[in-house]
Amino acid sequence: MIPFFKNQSLAIDLGNNTTRMTDADNILYSQSSCIVFDSKKSVKAIGDEAYKMFEKSHRGFQPVKPLKGGVIADYDSATAMIQKMVSVVRANKSRFSGFGQIVSGIPYSTTEVERRALRDALDLLGPRKRYLLFEPIAAALGMGINIEQPEGKMIIDIGGGITEIVILSLSGIVAFQSTKAAGDAFDTLIQDYFRRQRGIIIGSQTAERIKLKVGSVLYDLNPEPSPEVVSGKDIKTGIPVSYTIGHREIAGVLSRAFESIERCAQNVLETCPPELAADIYKNGIYVTGGGALIQGVKARLESSLQVPIYIDPTPLESVSRGASLTLKNPQRYRSVLV
Ligand SMILES: Nc1ncnc2c1ncn2[C@@H]1O[C@H](COP(=O)(O)OP(=O)(O)OP(=O)(O)O)[C@@H](O)[C@H]1O
Ligand SMILES: [Mg+2]
Repeated sequence: MIPFFKNQSLAIDLGNNTTRMTDADNILYSQSSCIVFDSKKSVKAIGDEAYKMFEKSHRGFQPVKPLKGGVIADYDSATAMIQKMVSVVRANKSRFSGFGQIVSGIPYSTTEVERRALRDALDLLGPRKRYLLFEPIAAALGMGINIEQPEGKMIIDIGGGITEIVILSLSGIVAFQSTKAAGDAFDTLIQDYFRRQRGIIIGSQTAERIKLKVGSVLYDLNPEPSPEVVSGKDIKTGIPVSYTIGHREIAGVLSRAFESIERCAQNVLETCPPELAADIYKNGIYVTGGGALIQGVKARLESSLQVPIYIDPTPLESVSRGASLTLKNPQRYRSVLV
């Protein structure tokens, strides 16, 4: 059992697709950012169990993904989801008497209204102190990058709802761009491709599975992933059909989305001060977030941006690892906690 003491601190990465909760040392929760209500508006399921019910439930259930584009889109569902997840985390914690500090990641490209929605949602948990931490900074800390030096460090976080591209120096964000070209958009592109080019309607979970299995941004991969058999419905007849798709077709589908990420990265490099750009050309660019796991990302970005690319080996956890680091040493990271 994970030890939980009085005034427990909590780091939250309320991701578009996955919510992760950690204390200073342990991962306490990591499941889909989903909630399902029943017809009486009671919570029927949260997390991975709720995700499995999407596109498979009847009218009696209302499945909700409360985050869109990496921010809270449905406040009531988001607060219900967070509270239920926290209650799972603190179940069986007899010595628990409330939260000390809560640190939560938030995309940098958020409005004050979006930030306030997250603050209000966290305040419902009754912490003594509550901080927000910009996700690209958390990701950099989680990757073990020293962000305190007067030296440019460039991060690309390809998440589920948003891709954020930043240059950091002296613990601050010097240049920044974001795009919606991220995991959810990749899934939609795959669904559109099947509908338009193959005449097959597939669900979003099937599209995500295709991306995970044969997702690629390069035509030539070595070794090549095995093709994936996909089931869907024929657009004209409605009859169930199957189709076998390989990574080359997906590389074509995802190409435009990656062009948008590359354009943003180029803009960030162009708009940052020249000394920092020189640092990036020397130090390279760090890529994290679930999109970093798509095959061929390193080679494609190296060829388009002409800069060394480092792929985070555990890109799904960098933000929560970074947020948890700030819990361990709040004095040191005071300047990045908002
Ligand atoms: N092996 C993989 N290959 C390709 N994509 C993947 C892989 N594993 C996860 N993903 C995708 O990564 C995305 C989730 O990444 P991540 O957990 O970084 O996002 P998030 O933090 O929930 O979202 P955001 O940062 O936008 O709020 C999803 O779209 C998921 O489908
Ligand atoms: Mg994220």
